[in-house]
Amino acid sequence: MTTLSLQANNPNDIFVAAHLLRAGEVLAVPTETVYGLAANALQSAAVAKIFTAKGRPQDNPLIVHIADVKQALPLVREFPVEAKHLAAAFWPGPLTIILLKSDIVPSIVTAGLDSIALRVPNHPATLALLHACELPLAAPSANRSGSPSPTTAEHVRADLQGRIAAILDGGACSLGVESTVISLVGNTPLLLRPGGITKEQIEQVLGRSIAVSPAITQPLDKNETPVSPGLKHKHYAPKAQLTLVRGSLRAFTTYTKREQPDGLLVFDGDVNALLKAGVLLRSIVRYGSNTNEHAQQLFAALRELDNRKFNRVFVRPPSHDGIGLAVYNRLLRAAEFHEISPNFVLGLCGQTGAGKSTAAKILADAGCVVIDCDNLAREIVQPGSPVLQELIAQFGCEIVHEDGTLHRGELAARAFVDDNTRRALNTITHKAITELALTHIHQAQGRVIVIDAAALLESEIARHCDYIAVITAPEDVRRTRILARDNISEDATNQRIQAQVNMDVSGHTSIDNTQGEAELAAKLRQLLTKILPLDYNLMI
Ligand code: TXA
Ligand code: MG
Repeated sequence: MTTLSLQANNPNDIFVAAHLLRAGEVLAVPTETVYGLAANALQSAAVAKIFTAKGRPQDNPLIVHIADVKQALPLVREFPVEAKHLAAAFWPGPLTIILLKSDIVPSIVTAGLDSIALRVPNHPATLALLHACELPLAAPSANRSGSPSPTTAEHVRADLQGRIAAILDGGACSLGVESTVISLVGNTPLLLRPGGITKEQIEQVLGRSIAVSPAITQPLDKNETPVSPGLKHKHYAPKAQLTLVRGSLRAFTTYTKREQPDGLLVFDGDVNALLKAGVLLRSIVRYGSNTNEHAQQLFAALRELDNRKFNRVFVRPPSHDGIGLAVYNRLLRAAEFHEISPNFVLGLCGQTGAGKSTAAKILADAGCVVIDCDNLAREIVQPGSPVLQELIAQFGCEIVHEDGTLHRGELAARAFVDDNTRRALNTITHKAITELALTHIHQAQGRVIVIDAAALLESEIARHCDYIAVITAPEDVRRTRILARDNISEDATNQRIQAQVNMDVSGHTSIDNTQGEAELAAKLRQLLTKILPLDYNLMI
């Protein structure tokens, strides 16, 4: 089929469009929200063409567009007073009202439901068209089912060229996200989809509070039947896997640098900081600098992610206020509800006796997740573990006891011979410890994770830390602590201290712990206030 290109500002083209609609054809028309795919709502065969062109599931009902309230009356059983108030306040405009339908509406329009969705769109060309054809027009968004809604005639062409009779080009849609949908069928008005008209605006007109469908911000359970069938279908989904990343730009940047996705969907104002942090310009797609712009640019931006063939995209979600809730809702659905709070990984190291473990305990009590690498080191060499097998292959079977457990003394005797043997030991164990630590890090969400590791700076794990702090204390203080704590000889203590003299802590923040626990806690609190990019609800 050839798809005609019609111009919204040409009265003759409006006349052609009206003629096509009266003839039972399907065409794309501009509205202030998104482009709609319109057909005569009173003719089942015409409406069926919409479902075919879009590839839309038959159980998802359509919105019927009308010129004014008068045109709505024959389509409903009753036009209640609350509908009158809402229509007076918001029509023409981005509010869809669901009412009980009359018998003249074919069931294909409402997917068999006994209710109908109605709205008067606020676009001069489409209003002119509604008046010219004198028909109610069933019109879902003019995209292929599942892909982002179209906000320009170009988007429609990309999805539906050759599948529909015409596209009426009215330029870019001013609002950019679909209408607010409210049902007046039950006792309490129910908000089914957030859009350009906010819940607060509706409540103000109705003079009472309205209910909000939980499906706006949460995925439906598998067996749940949605009030609005559209809620259960996959929506707005670009080919890339989207993840919404909560929190500040700093948290986003840190997380991005660590996780390295190939694409980012961010605000205009974020771009400079991201470039400064070394993010590549070609990985960035932006969607405006305030909520109105986010709404206007959202769907074009989602399409751009596909044009750039990204696989994995991190998104900065907007505020949930006003039309922001509508944008957030579309993004959540585009991301299939994949939203995360990034962890903050704090590496903690320090020389023996300095108080690293005390610091870790203070942080654990405050609500941090502490990963003690000494514990991981024990975990990885359990009898029968692959790491123990590797160590046996390297150092001989004398390093295990008869019961299969590790003989630490024997391993130390063989591994601490020279640099080569020491390196061989570290290569085997550090790799396994790092893997295990990373598993723990990935299991946590929105937490401050503390990695307690004496050898942190020589290990791979350091690369996965957002920040590294070194706990220090003068040598004599450390010596006294080790003697009191570990019940070993002075010689052994000195040996331990000597073994670490070469620890290079330059470039990292040192926290002096000469004075004891209360002082250390105060210093840690100060540090966290300075470095944490998000509020992690710590009790410190
Ligand atoms: O801004 C808009 O509303 C755009 C423009 C073209 O007007 N239209 C639009 O239509 O977004 P569509 O089909 O993409 O979304 C209609 C939504 C769907 O989620 C559908 O399930 C819901 O409205 N809906 C339609 N009739 C309903 C009914 N009787 N009861 C509950 N939900 C209904
Ligand atoms: Mg749609």
